[in-house]
Amino acid sequence: MNHAKHPSAGNPRVSLTGYATASAWAHFGFEYADWFDSRRGRALFLPMHYGCRALRPIAPAAGAFSESLYWRHRWFSAWAEAQAPNLAIEIGAGLSTRGIAHARKHPDMHWVDYDLADMVAARRARLAKHDVPGNYTLEVGDLLGPGLGGALRTSADARVIAMTEGVTDYLDHAEKRRAWRAIAELLARLGGGRYLLEVHPRERIDTFGMPGRLLFDALRRISGRDLREQLCANTDEAIAMLEDCGFTRVRVLPEDELVDAAHAPAPAHRAFVLIEACIQPGPDVARRERAR
Ligand SMILES: C[S@@+](CC[C@H](N)C(=O)[O-])C[C@H]1O[C@@H](n2cnc3c(N)ncnc32)[C@H](O)[C@@H]1O
Repeated sequence: MNHAKHPSAGNPRVSLTGYATASAWAHFGFEYADWFDSRRGRALFLPMHYGCRALRPIAPAAGAFSESLYWRHRWFSAWAEAQAPNLAIEIGAGLSTRGIAHARKHPDMHWVDYDLADMVAARRARLAKHDVPGNYTLEVGDLLGPGLGGALRTSADARVIAMTEGVTDYLDHAEKRRAWRAIAELLARLGGGRYLLEVHPRERIDTFGMPGRLLFDALRRISGRDLREQLCANTDEAIAMLEDCGFTRVRVLPEDELVDAAHAPAPAHRAFVLIEACIQPGPDVARRERAR
């Protein structure tokens, strides 16, 4: 079967890129990231990383790509920290250790990571030799399948966040809508909350020229998808789609809300924007909030 044309449900081939980012997080020194570093991950990440470095003098935008992954991961974690959630839900967590680090630092909250079955099994195998905090859970969950997060419960006034890092741009437009609706419905069922994701607008990628095309070609070979075609044309299109899926107050996070953005390598050239989208609390929660 041609996976590029007929990706299987949940697109498990995308999981391969999770090994690459796990090695990126280990390379950049994120907490506990060495737990998930692997030969396979390094074989995917390091050639791209050193290729980007070599490109930087002649193509600064594409050359900053691998370094900008560091900032993406860091900004997601800083956003989660700033939300002070009672419940944090990361979908497509891959081999990221953000949830474990956050749960360990905040024992009074609950962090749940979801991913496809194979990735969860790989993750469990590696976690078996480590001490995982009790307020951290790992579950199988498919953004495109039915009943995502169906077992989750929370108190009515809980602060709930959801995030997908490096996940929805691997989905085509119809799948993005399904995924975003599933997250919107989950947050609505939990009484409202905020969602963070990154979007690579096609118009931004196209300014990277030939090096950008080569990078996307490499990602196409790993993920089995023509990623450029699947991207939103621009941030307006992404925002309109998220609103259509039920989110409100959808906004691109401005530079001054991104921790230490000024120190990011060539941040003006980064390939992605971070978008925050909200599901307002239902009338019951809003009434209780007002009464507090
Ligand atoms: C590029 S990796 C990113 C992993 C992690 N978020 C990170 O930044 O290191 C993409 C992840 O999305 C997961 N994924 C792909 N399709 C999914 C789906 N339909 N539902 C849940 N997870 C999915 C893959 O298994 C993989 O772990």
